[in-house]
Amino acid sequence: MIPSTHMLPRADRVRAPAAAPAAPARMHIVVTGHVDHGKSTVIGRLLADTGSLPEGKLEAVRLACERNAKPFEYAFLLDALKDEQAQGITIDAARVFFKTPRRQYVILDAPGHIEFLKNMITGASSAEAALLVIDAQEGVQENSRRHGFMLSMLGVSQIAVVVNKMDLVEYRQEAFERIVAEQGEFLARFGVTPQCFVPVSGLMGENIVASSRSLAWYRGPTVLEALETFENRAPLTSAAFRMPVQGVYKFTEHHDTRRIVAGTVESGRISAGDEVIFYPSGKKSRVERLEGFNQPSRTEAFAAEAVGFTLTDQIYIGRGEIAAMTGQRKPHVSTRMKVSLFWLGRTALAMRKQYLLKLGTGRVPFTVEQIHRIVDASDLSTSETRTTVERHEVAECTLALSRPLAFDTADECPPTGRFVIVDNFEISGGGIVRQALPDNQTWVREKVLNRNYKWEPGSVSAERRMERYSQKPVLLVITGDTDADRKGLARDLEARLFDEGRHVYFLGIGNVLYGVDADIERTGVNRPEHLRRLGEVANILLDAGLIVIATAAALTQEDVEVIRTSVGSDRVMAVWLGDRMTTDLTSDLALTQLEADAEGANRLKDLLHDCGAIFKPW
Ligand code: GTP
Ligand code: MG
Repeated sequence: MIPSTHMLPRADRVRAPAAAPAAPARMHIVVTGHVDHGKSTVIGRLLADTGSLPEGKLEAVRLACERNAKPFEYAFLLDALKDEQAQGITIDAARVFFKTPRRQYVILDAPGHIEFLKNMITGASSAEAALLVIDAQEGVQENSRRHGFMLSMLGVSQIAVVVNKMDLVEYRQEAFERIVAEQGEFLARFGVTPQCFVPVSGLMGENIVASSRSLAWYRGPTVLEALETFENRAPLTSAAFRMPVQGVYKFTEHHDTRRIVAGTVESGRISAGDEVIFYPSGKKSRVERLEGFNQPSRTEAFAAEAVGFTLTDQIYIGRGEIAAMTGQRKPHVSTRMKVSLFWLGRTALAMRKQYLLKLGTGRVPFTVEQIHRIVDASDLSTSETRTTVERHEVAECTLALSRPLAFDTADECPPTGRFVIVDNFEISGGGIVRQALPDNQTWVREKVLNRNYKWEPGSVSAERRMERYSQKPVLLVITGDTDADRKGLARDLEARLFDEGRHVYFLGIGNVLYGVDADIERTGVNRPEHLRRLGEVANILLDAGLIVIATAAALTQEDVEVIRTSVGSDRVMAVWLGDRMTTDLTSDLALTQLEADAEGANRLKDLLHDCGAIFKPW
């Protein structure tokens, strides 16, 4: 027998290390600071004084100001550039570009917390370094401190503090030193040491690009020189492969049944022939071909590149999963995580309320299970007793997700270890994953991941079966009162569906208990394992394309969770039958015995229609 490649020792299939693509030396810089301290002015000056503005732009903006009898502002340059982008020319709303002989800079203007978080977390590429702008006259303000703390939380450790508006304090060294001492001491409290403090006047163009006579007492770098000393982060191409799946697309040509899995490589690299595993499902396959978008196809793709690939097996995966690679560190899969988050919502973050977590391409509803500690980022005071997190506070929390998500911790892989929180369609917070926590399904999930990893797909895909049978496989679990007639209802439904041409199968738990489960006793402690095996049997029947109707008495929420974990939560519907609810189950449908006798099968058919498992007759 020829062993499949994934069983070969890793060394046997090491390929010649391919060089990363000739990296265009590029650096993303975020500019933060308190409102009106001069962020946009400093950026405008950088562009103007490095000759990076489009021809005639400066004059045009000056002229426009004159015409409107407004004093000229360098900050207007940014607005003017954004307008240009709106016409589809060069620059997008959040970022501007300029070049030095050393590299290209992408400057992100972060006028407020939300923009800052968006840029850091959902931006195409997050900042590697930051300029923190402080007004020399106003001195260190709340957001000077908050932004410093957020930068450190989000892992931006290269910071230059720009002490702006030195002209307003007559370029006095003491004014500068006062800010150096105060902000330096604050940042040091959480271990951040800025690379440098630079006294400047954005307005006058002192010490931005050219050094300043008025600041003759200052010996350090200009802002531009400070930028040039920042180090590019080691490219993530040598780290474990991660690609959040953006979507799975059909080829448009006729009769081409292949699918392209598309996304952006967040870390590592991928080549044709690599074995990839998708999480949280744990399904695996091999990369057949890389497809470039509007590019000639190639054999390898690297971190930060958008890519699509076809697979050698027809596995069913979707948006929100994270592709990883065999033999490399796996992402975590859980419904619980410990995080540090920054809250920006108008109303306080509350326990028990439902929010949406966006991480990678996944989005999952969650609630806050516990608030461990709240830090006021402007003075670092802490509280360990509060139960809500107010706007602008930072908190360490445990989140409970409504279904399992794949993720890394921020230490392991920043792009898949950061998230934003959406409340009522608005970004209301964001943060980083500190730790993956186990949940009560961990033991089942580990088995499922392993089963999916070892799974041997047939030659007929799930999609082809769905098309052939005109149905989507689901597992309908009928549970309820011990004396309710679950099996009667199940058999009735089975017969009805079968007569209508459906592919359906009744699976009583007894069918599993004495056969598949013959090696384990029927005791309470073994109950989760019995249910897991019921789920495994159902999983095979679902893979064959069937609608499966299973029955078991008095299932609890946790019992059904075991089955959901085995089968995939989107493929399980739970129905309670009986006049009283005797467990904590939240069912998709509850029927009394009287209702079941009168119209049970119809009600269940409606449920199957509603979840898209069967389609209404024409
Ligand atoms: P927001 O985006 O609103 O947070 O402000 P910002 O930080 O981008 O500040 P902006 O660059 O818009 O500057 C705010 C005001 O400060 C403007 O009126 C600028 O002209 C003024 N300003 C900026 N830099 C200097 C400076 O070096 N000296 C003086 N005197 N004024 C400055
Ligand atoms: Mg601004």
